[in-house]
Amino acid sequence: MKYQLPKKLFYGADYNPDQWLDYPEIIDRDFYLMKAANTNAFSINIFGWSAIEKKEGEYTFEWLDNIMDRMASQGNNVLLATPSGAKPAWMAQKYPEIRRVNAMRQRELQGLRQNHCFTSPIYREKTAKMNRMLAERYKDHPALFMWHISNEFGGECHCSLCQEAFRKWLKERYGTLENLNKQWWTSFWSHTYTEWEQIESPSPIGESQVHALNLDWRRFVTFQTIEFYQNEIKPLKEITPEIPCTTNFMGDYPLQAPFAGLDYGKFAKALDVVSWDAYPEWHNPDESDYETACRTAFVSDLYRTLNENKPFLLMECTPSAVNWQRVAKLKEPGMNTLMGMQSIAHGSNSVLYFQWRKSKGSSEKFHGAVVSQDDREDTRVFKEAADLGKTLKQCEEVSSSVKRAKVAVLYDWENRWALDDAQGYGLKSKEYAKTVEAHYREFWKRGLDIDVITYNEPLHHYDLVVGPMLYLLPDEMVNKIETFVKNGGTFVTTYISNIVNETDLVKGLDPIFDQMTGIRVEEVDSLYAKDNVLFSYKGKSYKGSDYIDSIFLNEAVAVGRFQDHLFNGQPAITKNIYHKGMVYYMGVRGNESFLHDFYQEILEELDLQPSLQLPIDGKLSVQTRHDEESNSTYYFLMNFSDENVSYTEPLFNTLKDVQTGKIAEQTIHIPAYGFKLLKSGGTTE
Ligand code: GAL
Repeated sequence: MKYQLPKKLFYGADYNPDQWLDYPEIIDRDFYLMKAANTNAFSINIFGWSAIEKKEGEYTFEWLDNIMDRMASQGNNVLLATPSGAKPAWMAQKYPEIRRVNAMRQRELQGLRQNHCFTSPIYREKTAKMNRMLAERYKDHPALFMWHISNEFGGECHCSLCQEAFRKWLKERYGTLENLNKQWWTSFWSHTYTEWEQIESPSPIGESQVHALNLDWRRFVTFQTIEFYQNEIKPLKEITPEIPCTTNFMGDYPLQAPFAGLDYGKFAKALDVVSWDAYPEWHNPDESDYETACRTAFVSDLYRTLNENKPFLLMECTPSAVNWQRVAKLKEPGMNTLMGMQSIAHGSNSVLYFQWRKSKGSSEKFHGAVVSQDDREDTRVFKEAADLGKTLKQCEEVSSSVKRAKVAVLYDWENRWALDDAQGYGLKSKEYAKTVEAHYREFWKRGLDIDVITYNEPLHHYDLVVGPMLYLLPDEMVNKIETFVKNGGTFVTTYISNIVNETDLVKGLDPIFDQMTGIRVEEVDSLYAKDNVLFSYKGKSYKGSDYIDSIFLNEAVAVGRFQDHLFNGQPAITKNIYHKGMVYYMGVRGNESFLHDFYQEILEELDLQPSLQLPIDGKLSVQTRHDEESNSTYYFLMNFSDENVSYTEPLFNTLKDVQTGKIAEQTIHIPAYGFKLLKSGGTTE
């Protein structure tokens, strides 16, 4: 069970006073400015290890005591970080084993951050000791609100300690080497292992083509990272059992192999609260802000769902530019507030920035912050940040509401790793995350609330589940989908689905899946980027690209057929009634106009309509949150465009504007990058 956040909206930032210990006047100024910016929550000590323990065993907590006390006196909630994200230089020097070994088997030098070995007993001991001291010291401190464990866990280590742990993990999973060889299909290229010690993590100078090994390595890295996390929280749970723990996740991490990240679906289960760091590239020339908003919404919906649909935390975002993106673009007026409100609309109960104050030196000195090096409170960024603080106070009542989705879109990390690794199809066109987002977008643009779920989540409370490109589909998941459909659910899936099992062995026949879809897929053709295929669907013609299946019907009916290409005349889209439910199969990657028409039909069939009938205009996003206790619904109307817009809807007249407390007009005007928060059940004031 996830921890339930207090009914409050948290507003603040990562704060690094450890960089300013020689400048007490700056710290004084910070506390003044924090008030002026209407903040109430700060993450501190994220990179504070060197400031606490300058030399091994010599501790200086006084600066942190002082910051904690000042936080408490201003009523701020502290997300107190364990500082393991950056190991001190003395430690890296004295204990080389805590430094990672990369896939080329080179031990790294000290530098950067988030690059410690997760297996090293010494680092585990050091972090546990540090955390115990923090917990003992601050257990009764009124400012302590949450533990922020380390920072953005990620990456991997290939040292001998990790190799040993990997082999142990494999032994537990497979029992015998014979079984492992079988499941990994190591007879291919004569790669059969005859001793456990022969197994090494994937490497460009070693093994990289046993795909089941690659997949198990990714699973192990997740496992080992979670174990490290658990080692960190052990003393905290012992000393401060009531204080929740979180760690900050990153986007739909990973973007690509080989930096293939962690399975957050699994990691989330170990956290009390899920939180994430959002850095969308607003105002970029390759997509509209509306599209960027959709991709950001997708990730928020993923983390909200991983947080068991309880409010999650937006742990980091920038009030201004992001210095590591291709261009450090500023935000247009309004964008900062809109971005914050979007996060709340998708179920977050916080807007926390990276960072409160810009550093004076090193790599992040040009990264956006609430306070810049000029230390002023009359800057555009500071004023907008202070405004958002005020806005969040006005909207605080929304914190007790949650989202209720009838539609779920599947997104699974193991599937993504296996699919990215698969040598076949189009090497560049698989685009799993983009494909899932394209399906998600059809619901998002209509103003529906959507859950984004991994294979670990239950399906029974949805009317519609959409699973694009379910390449790796464990039997257990097939059974879960079947039960969902048998009980009346509607399931949509696509090309490149149900191809391999959990060790990446090709399934061939699968009686349950085949019966459910009512079709047999014989071949899949992958197209070159410049090629298209035409197919019909309900009397209209659409363009498809990248993948087309050769489908033969069993019980299913064809609702669309190819109109050219090798499979001309064969089914392209099928529909199968299965027990009380329905299964649709797309044997082609249809374009946006197809997805639009396809889902329109299904949503009508299932009577899944948004409660406000507003146009789909590439500008407006509508999302809702519902308060079970007062039975009121909150409508977030967000304008992701640089134009002022107006919408007329008879229902507006029955809704209250949360910020003004007044009944809304029938026509609502929203400025460029503006928003409105309306609520059902309001009365005129
Ligand atoms: C995050 C990280 C922060 C800061 C930020 C800059 O990934 O957690 O410490 O570096 O990026 O955007």
